[in-house]
Amino acid sequence: MTDSDHVGRNRVAWDDWAPNWVEAGRRNWAQTEPSWGQWSVPEAQLRLFPDEVAGRSCIELGCGTGYVSGWLARRGAHCIGVDNSAGQLRTARIFQQEFAQPFPLVQANAEDAPFPDATFDLAISEYGASIWCDPYRWIPEAARLLRPGGRLVFLGNSALVMCCLPDEPDGAAGDRLLRPYLGMHRFEWSDDDSVEFHLAHGDMHRLLRRSGFEVEELIEVEIPEGSTTRHPWVPYQWARQWPCEEVWKARRLPS
Ligand SMILES: C[S@@+](CC[C@H](N)C(=O)[O-])C[C@H]1O[C@@H](n2cnc3c(N)ncnc32)[C@H](O)[C@@H]1O
Repeated sequence: MTDSDHVGRNRVAWDDWAPNWVEAGRRNWAQTEPSWGQWSVPEAQLRLFPDEVAGRSCIELGCGTGYVSGWLARRGAHCIGVDNSAGQLRTARIFQQEFAQPFPLVQANAEDAPFPDATFDLAISEYGASIWCDPYRWIPEAARLLRPGGRLVFLGNSALVMCCLPDEPDGAAGDRLLRPYLGMHRFEWSDDDSVEFHLAHGDMHRLLRRSGFEVEELIEVEIPEGSTTRHPWVPYQWARQWPCEEVWKARRLPS
């Protein structure tokens, strides 16, 4: 299968950006308690991990520097990290050695992952496939990879914040809707060549159900008071009033 143009463009972008993610990756690998997203919201609040992960087989779709799989592996899960960027996987391999937590890392497109049907109990993505892959491709692919009863959990930008982000370098979210909510899908920015994907809630819900999932929860993330971030595009007061991130949790139904 040849790459869709966004897969090749995002590979080039992420190979270029990989050095900028080393420091944050190391910080996350070093954490004993997971925290999520741009504001490091604690796992105790969002509970992305299912109750029992020990012995479960997990795939991280767009694993980047690999810390989510590292956290799962430390909890006894059997993880495979998949990523499109050789540069990101190079960093992930360094951290696996540094933190003595080996698991397979595979360079592949998460929309077309090289694993048999019904292989995994958990498919997870934090700002990986969840925003860099076309949902109309990667969500059916996650359904294929999961066993009946398996969980799909992913976190990315909220649909709301995607309407409020200006298309200018270093612009921050404001309190005005700048683009249509209905029909949102593919996003390209003026300052780089990467491609992102975001869906309105109704479209995402419909896609998950059509792909064979029962939607268990949609969390519109409320950041805790005093939260900090290294990312400039959502001001603290914005994120305290509106969700800038969202988490979807879904269960694979038997076919
Ligand atoms: C922000 S990182 C997310 C990973 C991790 N949570 C982190 O923050 O380091 C986004 C990752 O998605 C990967 N990615 C983008 N498109 C992809 C695709 N089609 N298949 C697999 N991974 C992809 C990128 O290479 C990048 O490493």
